[in-house]
Amino acid sequence: MTKDEVLKLLKNSGGEYVSGEKISRELNITRTAVWKAINSLRSEGFTISSATNKGYRLAVEGVHLSRAALSARKKTVIGGELHFFESVTSTFDKLAEFEPKEGLTVIAAQQTSGRGRLGRNWDSGRGGVYFSFMLLPPIDADTAPFITLICALAVQRALSEYTDCKIKWPNDIVCGGRKLCGILTKTSLTENEVENVCVGIGINVNNGGFGGELANATSLKEICGHEIDENKLFERVAAELDRAYYRESRADVLSDYKMVCANLGKHITVHYANGKRDIPGVCTDILPDGSMNVDTENGTINVNSGEVSVKGIYEFERK
Ligand code: BTN
Repeated sequence: MTKDEVLKLLKNSGGEYVSGEKISRELNITRTAVWKAINSLRSEGFTISSATNKGYRLAVEGVHLSRAALSARKKTVIGGELHFFESVTSTFDKLAEFEPKEGLTVIAAQQTSGRGRLGRNWDSGRGGVYFSFMLLPPIDADTAPFITLICALAVQRALSEYTDCKIKWPNDIVCGGRKLCGILTKTSLTENEVENVCVGIGINVNNGGFGGELANATSLKEICGHEIDENKLFERVAAELDRAYYRESRADVLSDYKMVCANLGKHITVHYANGKRDIPGVCTDILPDGSMNVDTENGTINVNSGEVSVKGIYEFERK
């Protein structure tokens, strides 16, 4: 579309003015078409100033999520239809208001009642990236837990562009022993068929001062020492989600997952949510169904629910 090409040209000018004549010449369009494209970009939220004899200039974008910056991202299936909100209770609540559609995504700059696993709260102040998306997978209920692992690997790959990080099974992203991102997956079932899977991802980017479940958390800003463009980050995560979910085999995902899994080969303690006694052991494998094998003094156990804590990463508070 013409307006996308005009936007690209303005972005490539490094914050300098570009004359209407130059835009019209380079894109082979009329001056009226340039003017229409500029107005259309402005109505989408881009700040474009104009000056006589100089032309048009795109204001330098901020680092925080914005409708304008998000609309300039590369298109993906996950996030293909993207709804941005300044503030929501939870992106899960908002997602539920839309008709189900593959890849449909709700992203917010802030959540007032962000939800974490095991009924915990998710600290969701400004500066984080919070989104939920919907998958309508042609799979049965037993395979659904693997989606969690796919998403964790995708986010880990995207965050690796910024810092060295690992996955704490099943789906926390940790850096230097502190939590950088949490993922919550909700599966809706009819009989043994998966109706849909809603995945919610919360990434600590430019936020801080964490409390509650995130007391031992960190953010990309804290790690990198500068602010990170939240829009670019989302674009990267969406691209990695598409790659891992639609284009890679489950075997390849599992093998890459194992390479960055912080638990594998480590002493861990399995904490059962139902209050059963904690079991110490060594994590020996992650299986294709998303579960984990743990060697204990009484033999190997298979863990597919509950919580585990990993020595040297961070210990989970029991609920
Ligand atoms: C966890 O406890 O580790 C999972 C946290 C998941 C948080 C995300 S933020 C976007 C989505 N909306 C929510 O209310 N929770 C998830």
